[in-house]
Amino acid sequence: MSRLVVVSNRTADLRKPAAGGLAVALGESLQQRGGVWFGWSGKILEDVDGQPAPEGKVNFQRAGKVTLATVDLGRADYDAYYAGYSNDVLWPVFHYRLDLANFDTRFAAGYRRVNQLFARKLLPMLKPDDLIWVHDYHLIPLAAELRALGCTNRIGFFLHVPMPPPLIMAAIPEHEWLMRSLFAFDVVGFQSRADLLHFSHYVESEAGAEVLGDGRFRAYGRTTHAGAFPIGMDVDDFLRLAEAKEGREMFERMRDEYSRRQLLLGVDRLDYSKGLPQRIHAFRELLAQYPENRNRATLIQIASPSREDVEAYGDIRRQMDSLCGAINGDYGELDWMPIRYIHRNIARKRLPGLYRASRVALVTPLRDGMNLVAKEFIAAQDPADPGMLVLSRFAGAAEQLKDALLVNPYDTQGTAQAIQRALTMPLEERRNRHANLLRSIREQNIHWWTRSFLDALAGAQK
Ligand code: ADP
Ligand code: G6P
Repeated sequence: MSRLVVVSNRTADLRKPAAGGLAVALGESLQQRGGVWFGWSGKILEDVDGQPAPEGKVNFQRAGKVTLATVDLGRADYDAYYAGYSNDVLWPVFHYRLDLANFDTRFAAGYRRVNQLFARKLLPMLKPDDLIWVHDYHLIPLAAELRALGCTNRIGFFLHVPMPPPLIMAAIPEHEWLMRSLFAFDVVGFQSRADLLHFSHYVESEAGAEVLGDGRFRAYGRTTHAGAFPIGMDVDDFLRLAEAKEGREMFERMRDEYSRRQLLLGVDRLDYSKGLPQRIHAFRELLAQYPENRNRATLIQIASPSREDVEAYGDIRRQMDSLCGAINGDYGELDWMPIRYIHRNIARKRLPGLYRASRVALVTPLRDGMNLVAKEFIAAQDPADPGMLVLSRFAGAAEQLKDALLVNPYDTQGTAQAIQRALTMPLEERRNRHANLLRSIREQNIHWWTRSFLDALAGAQK
């Protein structure tokens, strides 16, 4: 079997818990197969006396069956490539937020520079039959840069975030270059059929692509395979976590504390794509429209700090502070607060217990590639008395999780009604829906995802 070389912007210390679907999913699959994981070290080399620090060497670290190979980034590169182009251009546009994008021309140059740096550093590590699997929007031009250096390996790409429709994509000044770069990969994978459709619409309408069948597209003088590979989770591993000491303790603590109340839960990175203000508005509407929930329902919203050096993330933080403060001020009692808002990461081993103690999970992004929290919540439930998932129709997960209560997060009233329905759903309906949801996340789990993508990559015609 060919060795696997995974490349992503963020690698993770595999011994520590990580927030972020990509780090969690890859950590699990690489540990099982073994291989190399290459990416940014997370370190920034600051300028010295106004001069950029010299380019760093590759650092190697062994963690179980995985070799982590990482490079540091200089300050200017980090600012332009990560904070700039990746998170101030591609992230907002791919999540349909043109209003938040900052099309500063210096960002694109830094993005290209870092992709070239990655290609230069990676090339000497490669063996001829390695399968290379590149992840996410930070590294769209990487295959093209590797090809320019003579690399002929099979290279696959998986986009963890949504692929926007062509007219939204076309707002990025470099859109043609980005889409052309995708054709340097042998396989391009998306989270959902909707994303794949947007890709095919773009290449057909903007690049006159020929659709060759079997997921093959010919454009820009090259052929690539494109497909939908919805990312899954390791259900059994998560259940083991739920059964472990911390998982059980967390569950018992929360169950006892909320024995006379109904617990609702949100777990997200603090990101404007997650629909957090809209969620708070819907919860407020629930308390206004269905007063029986006052003094009874509590929403725990955990939002881990994320990308704080990007302006839009500061704005969402201020917005959440003020919305949560206002609802607690307006509805709170001496012995009950409607919202517990926690602006922190929580340890992964405590998550399953928290999910299991919750009656309802609110997963209501305005746009999301997949959303693994939705799947983790399902996995952690007690099948005999499961909690209910309220899920945005705009999360990639909604294509698979049809038995959740699907909502439009922009519709405050509709979302409040769905939350009320979830809180009052009869046991039998909850059990039936949960059984279907669990089957779906078990069938298309993380092993299925890795296998189907790598089979497509290994089998792709060159
Ligand atoms: P994204 O990749 O956009 O962050 P996902 O829902 O796909 O969203 O993945 C998030 C992952 O990070 C999940 O595995 C989730 O358990 C974890 N996570 C998110 N927020 C937190 C948090 N506040 N504390 C602990 N883990 C978190
Ligand atoms: C999403 C992206 C990942 C990213 C993660 C955390 O899951 O798809 O690529 O790693 O968010 O974001 P960060 O910017 O901290 O890496």
